[in-house]
Amino acid sequence: MDNTMIKVGLIGFGRMGRFYLHEFQRNKNWQVTYICDPFDKAQEMARDYCPTAKVTGNEDDVFNDPDVDVVALCALADSRKSQILKALAHGKHIISEKPIAMLPEDEWELVKAVGESDRLATVNLYLRSSWYHHQLKQFIDEGELGELAIIRICHMTPGLAPGEGHEAEGPSFHDCGMHYCDITRWYAQSEYKTMHSQAIRMWNYKDPWWLQAHGTFDNGIVYDITQGFVYGQMSKDQTHNSYIDLIGTHGIARMTHDFKTATVELRGITKTVTINKPYGGKNIDVMIEKFAQSIRNGKLDMTLPSLRDSAIASQFAWDCLADARTHDLPAIGDLETLEQIRYRRAHMTNGYGLLHQTVSK
Ligand SMILES: NC(=O)c1ccc[n+]([C@@H]2O[C@H](COP(=O)([O-])OP(=O)(O)OC[C@H]3O[C@@H](n4cnc5c(N)ncnc54)[C@H](O)[C@@H]3O)[C@@H](O)[C@H]2O)c1
Repeated sequence: MDNTMIKVGLIGFGRMGRFYLHEFQRNKNWQVTYICDPFDKAQEMARDYCPTAKVTGNEDDVFNDPDVDVVALCALADSRKSQILKALAHGKHIISEKPIAMLPEDEWELVKAVGESDRLATVNLYLRSSWYHHQLKQFIDEGELGELAIIRICHMTPGLAPGEGHEAEGPSFHDCGMHYCDITRWYAQSEYKTMHSQAIRMWNYKDPWWLQAHGTFDNGIVYDITQGFVYGQMSKDQTHNSYIDLIGTHGIARMTHDFKTATVELRGITKTVTINKPYGGKNIDVMIEKFAQSIRNGKLDMTLPSLRDSAIASQFAWDCLADARTHDLPAIGDLETLEQIRYRRAHMTNGYGLLHQTVSK
């Protein structure tokens, strides 16, 4: 492909769709030619934010237009499988949100279908595009930690509450936790071997909304992953706790962030380093730049996550949830509190992971 702008159709114009539009508009490689969403309010916003794009409620308008090179799939998991298959049938390259389908068997079918096609496809496993994880990995590769032995990762926020949306993506350990399952595997450079999961049904909701998994990789590295959208939902001033701790035979490296600034700290064999840099949000700018170059080169940038990476992370997150259900799974709190949380979030203008809001973390 020459240097002409790459034409992209954006399907799903909710919170993520709007992040994508913002980044496509800032990148000279891309031209958004369609925005598709069946929701009237989303269409109204699409016309307002991108007057040059065709706005439609019918996804086939996007797939049937031969001028569309790429589709960015930002609707929910329940429509993704058919959209990925349609994209392949109509010769479009694919940027997909995660998970790529609702059921693991469908995800594996899609991995196969993309593998058999000549189209390029990636999934927004956004932690892999972050500067801080690349910086930490570089310290490991330089040998500053000795041999990597332990990966501890945690992400707890007062984010999306049960029943508020994203039902198609599963409980929070799948919806959000699959990112942490993926990045842990990325650090270990090995496949998951053993796992034990403990969860809790916060506010007596039917599904767990906090889960901790631990175990080993094939290469002996051990991990623990903690994820929950249960972190002080009703506190007057909300906060979160998000970190990674990488422990080697000789040194350690870690990161924490406040969604504005990320702090990376290294206590290595030859150096001690602290780096503070802007957090970078969902890093969609990095992903779409690499994807544009991939299309121009006719080959997927090896650092972009594949559908296989996504299917593995998704399957593992589901496995953790299934394992947790085989142990004691206590319920603490009541559904009345959950109602209060949903009410509060529905009336917030700036909060963690708010859907259908223009400003949110
Ligand atoms: N990669 C990440 O870090 C990350 C973060 C948050 C959400 N996500 C994923 O992004 C996707 C969207 O999440 P969101 O937070 O923007 O949700 P959202 O509810 O804000 O937006 C979803 C939008 O899709 C629209 N939609 C539903 N079905 C559609 C269809 N068939 N065709 C076109 N549009 C359709 C809805 O009307 C809505 O406007 C989800 O799959 C979610 O898991 C990824």
